[in-house]
Amino acid sequence: MNSTDARLIDAIHQDRLADLDHPEAHDVCRAIGRRVAAEVAEVVAILEADGISATVDGDPSAPVQRHSGTLHLTAADKAFAAVRALGQHGYRPWEPIGGPAEPVLRHFRDTLTVARTDDVTITLELCWPPSTLGGRLPAILIPNENDYQAVALPRSLWPLYLVVRPLRLLAERLGLRPAAGRALGPFLSTPTDLIKPLLDLADVGADDTLVDLGCGDARILRHAVAERGCRGVGIEADPFLVGEARRLVAEEGLDDRIVVVEGDANAERLPAEASEGSVFFLFVPAYAVPPVAGRVLAQARPGSRLIVHEQHPLPDFATDTGMVSVPLLSGQGVTVAHRLDVPDGGARPVTDEGDQGP
Ligand SMILES: C[S@@+](CC[C@H](N)C(=O)[O-])C[C@H]1O[C@@H](n2cnc3c(N)ncnc32)[C@H](O)[C@@H]1O
Repeated sequence: MNSTDARLIDAIHQDRLADLDHPEAHDVCRAIGRRVAAEVAEVVAILEADGISATVDGDPSAPVQRHSGTLHLTAADKAFAAVRALGQHGYRPWEPIGGPAEPVLRHFRDTLTVARTDDVTITLELCWPPSTLGGRLPAILIPNENDYQAVALPRSLWPLYLVVRPLRLLAERLGLRPAAGRALGPFLSTPTDLIKPLLDLADVGADDTLVDLGCGDARILRHAVAERGCRGVGIEADPFLVGEARRLVAEEGLDDRIVVVEGDANAERLPAEASEGSVFFLFVPAYAVPPVAGRVLAQARPGSRLIVHEQHPLPDFATDTGMVSVPLLSGQGVTVAHRLDVPDGGARPVTDEGDQGP
């Protein structure tokens, strides 16, 4: 790796790309800052029209490397009303907010994340002053969507989730129940501007079958199949996104070449549809990369390539697998991409099982 690439990767990992003296980095971060500012202004106007006032810290158009903004609401009530109002404008919350989730979130948390996806995903953190209970419990004890999904309690019994949570975590630790479902994180799309450079890094051609583990709306697959004539397999856990992906695949006339499977890309075995895969694509939280990558490399045929991308540093992993890492900056996108090739004779096992996240 040359020294400029090393400097860029280091800056991306430290979330200080915008401070780097590098013209391309500066242009990309300025473009992202302008985009975030426009989105924040639109959201503030939407909320004002609904009688909800929101304030923003600092200059939202300052150059940044992430498509994310923060809005301050005056109270939890306003934040929940804001999530509902923004739902009419294409924003989805990153976790359920109805039923028992609502009182738990109101009492223990002071932030909710919503996101809207177009050519990029913009995430907005909605913050409010915490209740007196909020902030007293360590984060590990605060119930989340995995607990609501494990046991469906009526809303009025929400305090019982404080008991459900440790019991669920213990049962998972003892292997009495499978680890909670969406361990590969929420939907955060790969910026459209980065798809071509990522496909180039993987050398995707017409003979390939591209498997996207956690495919979201299948944008990588749709782009690859339309531009390179390959085949595509998407694995996605969120039924809403499976529906979106299938709808868009059909709308673009690609349904004879792309299959979207509703399933768990974090399972021990890849689904049968992925068995012909020659390129595997993984954009998930950094902590989830080692276990998933290890399983893919163990099951993929020699000659297959695994592409991982992330702005965060990966946990200690794959240092002996000949991984190649490059910074990618393009239009509205910033990432660090990694390519791992499955050698003849198969991959060496990746031993670091990583932190599965609670
Ligand atoms: C960061 S997004 C990446 C989306 C897409 N690959 C892209 O790059 O645009 C991660 C995706 O993984 C999905 N996901 C999370 N956990 C999963 C699991 N256990 N199995 C399959 N998909 C999962 C999420 O719903 C989300 O769509």
